[in-house]
Amino acid sequence: MEKNNTLIKNAKEIVTCSGFKAKQGRDMSDLHIIEDGAVVIEEGRIKAVGKNDEILKSFDEKNYEVIDAAGKAVLPGFVDSHTHLVFGGYRAEEFSWRLRGDSYMDIMQRGGGIVNSVKATREASTEELLEVGMSRLDSMLSFGVTTVECKSGYGLDLETEIKQLKVMKELDSGHPLDIISTFMGAHATPVEYKGRTDDYVDYIINEMMPLVARESLAEFSDVFCEKNVFSIEQTRRIQNRAKELGFKIKLHADEIVQFGGGELAAELGATSADHLLQVSDRGIEDMSKAGVVATLLPCTAFSLKESFARGRKMIDMGCAVALATDFNPGSCFCESIPLVFALAALQMNIGIEEAVTALTINGAAAIDRAHEIGSIDPGKKGDMLILEFPSYKFIPYHIGVSTVEKVIKNGRLAFDKKKGGRLC
Ligand code: NIG
Ligand code: FE
Repeated sequence: MEKNNTLIKNAKEIVTCSGFKAKQGRDMSDLHIIEDGAVVIEEGRIKAVGKNDEILKSFDEKNYEVIDAAGKAVLPGFVDSHTHLVFGGYRAEEFSWRLRGDSYMDIMQRGGGIVNSVKATREASTEELLEVGMSRLDSMLSFGVTTVECKSGYGLDLETEIKQLKVMKELDSGHPLDIISTFMGAHATPVEYKGRTDDYVDYIINEMMPLVARESLAEFSDVFCEKNVFSIEQTRRIQNRAKELGFKIKLHADEIVQFGGGELAAELGATSADHLLQVSDRGIEDMSKAGVVATLLPCTAFSLKESFARGRKMIDMGCAVALATDFNPGSCFCESIPLVFALAALQMNIGIEEAVTALTINGAAAIDRAHEIGSIDPGKKGDMLILEFPSYKFIPYHIGVSTVEKVIKNGRLAFDKKKGGRLC
């Protein structure tokens, strides 16, 4: 039997999410479900998907590792398209201050926040970052995530940014999950550049980005475009240079105040604009026309006690919406896909079908991988999950609890709740 040849049979439903590009607006409700289905994976790639009886007629079970999914739903693996998972230290103390009423920005301006994690990340060894990284990835895998985007931005100097990005590379090869790396030197101004943000922008443009590009350590460039962090003009400078160097573009946009981030993302031809709690109607319209994926991060809004992004409006205006965790040590120390899902469905008025799309094919589109992952279509990677329940509708219904029983990564059983966790 070939390695990574797997046949999943007898599924109550296969939620294929079929498609090879982002789904915008109304199309987000289209899940292309096959009742009583089966999937065949050969050498890690999806070979066929269809009705159970037809698949079993055409493919001989004895050539495969067979998984019986009777009474269960099968979905594409989730794509967590926005995280900051490699960092040193924690900020539980700051979290307690926020519960007492301090705002995220107050803490940042007092010298806490991101620069606090920068200090701890500079001090952490590669081995320490790898160890915590591995266990964070295990947790993500248990929620059904098969691909995760990860940003640097807790180094803010050449050495530590490179250290973070190399850790991501090693995690990618040492763990079943795939990691897509993003360079985010423009996450905050480090203490050594305090009051000289323009000089730090020069340092990013002239020293950091060319090296990251030369060593092929990141595919995307991201900037925290926000009042008192990086201005629209500074963001434009960084991202135009990033494009010249071959990076694709992401933005942390319109998170705390309305700042024109959505509009800028459209102007830059960004792959995604993320957060968007305060984005203007014009920003939504521009993103919808330009095909920028609007990546919404409900656990961050929840953790910051802010109002949620206007996901319903964005979908109604024709945007492609993705959902992600934003897992990080400050604004959202949470990698829970079930909580993302529940908040989207219960608080943001996003339909269950739309939320599934937002975590699969649109998550894939947010990292420019819709041709490769995010749906159960022949030719794509054999990344999928099996729920403990017969329908995807159980995902938000079992509020905040993972309904994922098994995860198949590149055609191999990588996680089984019943066997105690990660298997390869
Ligand atoms: O996406 N908003 C900026 N960056 C992160 C928070 C990082 C941190 O607080 O450490 C975010 O929310
Ligand atoms: Fe973020």
